[in-house]
Amino acid sequence: MNARLETDVAIVGAGIAGLMAALKLAPLRVTVLCKTALGSGAATGWAQGGIAAALGPDDSPRLHSLDTQRAGAGLSDEKVVDILTRDAPARVEELLELGANFDRSGDGTLALGREAAHNRRRIVRAGGDATGHEILKTLVDAVRAAESIRIVENALAEELLTDGNRVVGLLVRDDTTGSCFALHSRATILATGGIGRLYAFTTNPPQASGDGIAMAARAGAVLADMEFVQFHPTAIDVGRDPMPLATEAIRGEGAVLINDLGERFMQRLHDDAELAPRDVVARGIFNERRVGRSTFLDARLTIGQGFAERFPTAFAACRAAGIDPRIQPIPVAPAAHYHMGGIAVDENGRTSLQGLWACGETSATGMHGANRLASNSLLEAMGYATLVAADVGAHLPEKQAVPSSVTPRLAEPAAPRAIAALRQAMYDHVGIIRDEAGITTALATVNRIARAHPHPPAELRNLLDVAKLIATAALQRPESRGSHYRSDYPYANEAFARRSFTTLSACGVSS
Ligand code: SIN
Repeated sequence: MNARLETDVAIVGAGIAGLMAALKLAPLRVTVLCKTALGSGAATGWAQGGIAAALGPDDSPRLHSLDTQRAGAGLSDEKVVDILTRDAPARVEELLELGANFDRSGDGTLALGREAAHNRRRIVRAGGDATGHEILKTLVDAVRAAESIRIVENALAEELLTDGNRVVGLLVRDDTTGSCFALHSRATILATGGIGRLYAFTTNPPQASGDGIAMAARAGAVLADMEFVQFHPTAIDVGRDPMPLATEAIRGEGAVLINDLGERFMQRLHDDAELAPRDVVARGIFNERRVGRSTFLDARLTIGQGFAERFPTAFAACRAAGIDPRIQPIPVAPAAHYHMGGIAVDENGRTSLQGLWACGETSATGMHGANRLASNSLLEAMGYATLVAADVGAHLPEKQAVPSSVTPRLAEPAAPRAIAALRQAMYDHVGIIRDEAGITTALATVNRIARAHPHPPAELRNLLDVAKLIATAALQRPESRGSHYRSDYPYANEAFARRSFTTLSACGVSS
């Protein structure tokens, strides 16, 4: 394989984090690798919630920071949270300047929504529940117009190219031809998004297969907080994979959760009922289903005929499945939605490897701690894209000598059955409720699949590495905290009130 490209900065991922970083790096030569066509495949485009920012007259960055830290269950990094919440209004302003069209109140000011565990109205939205779509469209238009940015579509980054502890580029496969090329870069930024594909039930696009975490881990990077996976309580359960989302804002506007007996079961579980923290609601629904009940989101009384206009994305998903949420309850189940863990980064988004930065969901910044507050993910992605771009711009590494040729790995063809088995094992045993026996079973499944596929295709290889990291971290936290609930250790234990850090080799995987 001799084909090679050169760039100042390589960015892997074309969601909010990758595109925002690319825009902020101008006039440096930036190459953005996009796994699909630009504008599709990024979870950003599916975000129904919004961007949390203290913009209301009764709000302040301090209050936003305190809500964020409370959700983080003692593991949020206060300094990081303070920076991101302080700068949140500026990030919203930047999107407005790029042309984003956010929802406004009658007086022309931004309309601010409320979501669970936020003590103020501070959610900026677009098109009711189409915020992510509007943001992605805005950023795609801007990068298309930027001369310094080259977009390479249908490009799968398979491996980081390293020289000792320094990242010098990427091995990339062109998904349309199957051929590989080396992309040499002075700086590399991973912004590959989440890991939802690892779970049988997820709200994430199939592209969310933990590629950035897996590549960085194989290159020896330190990972953090891997055990913390957030499940969204109300994915629409109509047999689709991935599952469409019924945004939390629907509960924010008064919709209730009921079982097939018509009981509002959340009222017996938490004072805030449907607006309890996300992990509490997800567990509540999961437990109903475990005893054979069906679970529904009922918006008939509180939202009723206004549903189509207020939540057009969720409405369209319901209608496509033959459900009319104005007059019928919506079947819902919890689904993997967001990963708080990822590649450990410092306050500039630097990883433990020289020449490698990370931002967005693939990184672990410390903002979210053990549980993410709704609508803080787009904010964190923009905030860290900004910090990373500033740091890369100020400290762009010198061009490095690079290996003269790189040999692509030979891999088996796609392995859909192995992926399905892995996803089911992770959902059943390393999902909403975990215990030692279950996690051990999941790890045995991971090892069995790895043995059966000595040359796994790229997707399976990444999923196996991430599964091992998550399951091992879950086993090593014998307590319950935030999104990590261990039925064999159902309480938080102060002895474990700290973030977790690991590497792939610490999990017994040779890279
Ligand atoms: C939602 O709209 O419920 C999801 C928002 C988020 O996950 O931040």
